[in-house]
Amino acid sequence: MKTGAWLLALALLLPGILHAEYGDVVINKRSDANGMRPVVFPHWFHRIRFRCKVCHHELGFKMRAGANEVLMTDIIDGKFCGMCHNDTIAWGPERCEICHSAIPGTPAGIQGGAQTSGPGRW
Ligand code: HEC
Ligand code: HEC
Ligand code: HEC
Repeated sequence: MKTGAWLLALALLLPGILHAEYGDVVINKRSDANGMRPVVFPHWFHRIRFRCKVCHHELGFKMRAGANEVLMTDIIDGKFCGMCHNDTIAWGPERCEICHSAIPGTPAGIQGGAQTSGPGRW
């Protein structure tokens, strides 16, 4: 195989492999209890766009699935997800269903990469 073909193969494979390591994170401390679908946070999607420290240092997200106490009022006040989902950097908090998209009852935690990885997630 020529170098170009190898690089192409690598470029196609890598997203799947890496995404499997950090799949989507379901956040569900309060959503179900308040009649909203749990939140699906596509970690990989964000990770390729922003440095880790933006969220895990500056925004104060703890690096453990289920460890964060995020209130909807905080988001609307521009904290946590609302630091970017504010209609300026990204679409805003009024787009409920894009974040609250898990099947009701989905427990908090990492959702394995396999089903969620692949070109479709890009
Ligand atoms: C940018 C992503 C995002 C959007 C958009 C969003 N939410 Fe949330 N919301 C969250 C996160 C994250 C939590 C914390 C989830 C948890 O711990 O269960 C949350 C929590 C909640 C909760 C739990 C109780 C509370 O007050 O914190 C309710 C109810 C809620 N959201 C309603 C809404 C409604 C209604 C909308 C649209 C008007 C909306 N959300 C839009 C991310 C979002
Ligand atoms: C856009 C914000 C954002 C960025 C950028 C980001 N993360 Fe995260 N990360 C989160 C959120 C939100 C969670 C879920 C926390 C929860 O469930 O309460 C999380 C969870 C994690 C977890 C916990 C997963 C587990 O196994 O429990 C690890 C580890 C992690 N991130 C590492 C990283 C690393 C390393 C980078 C950079 C390469 C990074 N994150 C970039 C927001 C981000
Ligand atoms: C550091 C900035 C930043 C933070 C913090 C952040 N996001 Fe995002 N998010 C983005 C950007 C930018 C996009 C892409 C917006 C677009 O495509 O218009 C995005 C897209 C998304 C998408 C759609 C992904 C797709 O496949 O199209 C979801 C869902 C989402 N964010 C949820 C969240 C939730 C939930 C949180 C908090 C736990 C959060 N985001 C925190 C910047 C951020």
